[in-house]
Amino acid sequence: MPRVTCAPPSLCLSLLRLLKHLLPSLPPTVRDADVPPLYRKRFVLSGYRPVGLSRRCYILSLFQIHNETLNVWSHLLAAVCMSMRFLVFVVLQGGGILGFRLQGPEGQGFSVDVSSLPLVLYVISAITYLSCSAAAHLLQAHSEMEHYSLYFLDYACMAVYQYSCAMALYLYTSDDVWKQSMLAQIFPPASALLSWLSCATCCYATLATHFCRPLHRKLCQVVPLGVAFMVVFNPVAHRLISYSWKSNSALPLHFLQMVLFLPSAIFFSFPVPELFYPGHCDIVAHSHQIFHVMLSFSMFIQQEALFKNFLWRRPALIREFGEEHLLLVCASFLCLMLCCVMTALAMRWRAKAQLQKEQRWK
Ligand SMILES: *[C@@H]1O[C@H](CO)[C@@H](O)[C@H](O)[C@H]1NC(C)=O
Ligand SMILES: [Zn+2]
Repeated sequence: MPRVTCAPPSLCLSLLRLLKHLLPSLPPTVRDADVPPLYRKRFVLSGYRPVGLSRRCYILSLFQIHNETLNVWSHLLAAVCMSMRFLVFVVLQGGGILGFRLQGPEGQGFSVDVSSLPLVLYVISAITYLSCSAAAHLLQAHSEMEHYSLYFLDYACMAVYQYSCAMALYLYTSDDVWKQSMLAQIFPPASALLSWLSCATCCYATLATHFCRPLHRKLCQVVPLGVAFMVVFNPVAHRLISYSWKSNSALPLHFLQMVLFLPSAIFFSFPVPELFYPGHCDIVAHSHQIFHVMLSFSMFIQQEALFKNFLWRRPALIREFGEEHLLLVCASFLCLMLCCVMTALAMRWRAKAQLQKEQRWK
């Protein structure tokens, strides 16, 4: 009989050995009273990494147990899963959706396919958002300036992702009746404006930690996000309400996506469950972790639904919207990205001025 040997790959083993050597050099986590107020989360009492360690320590803390371990890993794994799924999708489609022609009438080659460009932008911005968010949670405790910079970057990526979502739903999911509505006429600029507003208000709320009450800051974040949500999901909500779900296999997925997304927004806004069990949800199960996990699933499911919508819509897309309109949408995406990055940089500049005034930045 043939014998199967399953020796663990030696690379893995040496990596484990290295970690075993490096991890004990990390300082243990501390209690909330031991970190500056900026870093404290209400009802989370322990599991904080000390502030002001070297960057190497925070990178290594990826393998340590602390209050952000799950926050980092959830978005990291989601980014990996979404990229893998996208690669599989591209390969199954023969590379065509990236504009590559592996086997076409004209042989192999490269051409830009405007009808798939919005989908590609959507996937890229989703993966970028997840990675930036994971990096922000992993590294922000280094210094107050780093905290601000990384979260501002995170919010800029979130806004760009939000706009890419709006565009993908607008182009691949909307139906003919919806397209006649008032909202449909102003949908692209309106969703761009709302995305930028979400970025600006979220940054502002983070900046205002010192001089604004927690409730006001939360409202400042949640109200623009809520309005944006209602606009962005309008095309798919209309389709869900007015068509039989049997007509389109993507509709149950869109529904599932919403079912996961709505409660995740509640966990983003309210410190539940740690409010009821202060100190018991520090490492596992505080609200932000539940938000991350539900958001990750909801993003993955939305990607799946959009793949289906894309395949079904693609042949007629250029005829329906016109090539110029599609190019304009992609160009507006780049403009929004620029606006959000500039906003984040401006906020970073204000944060620096604020810290300098308080003489906490050298
Ligand atoms: C976890 O601890 C870090 C400091 O290491 C802090 O900045 C962050 O706000 C804490 N997060 C939660 C959810 O408690
Ligand atoms: Zn987060």
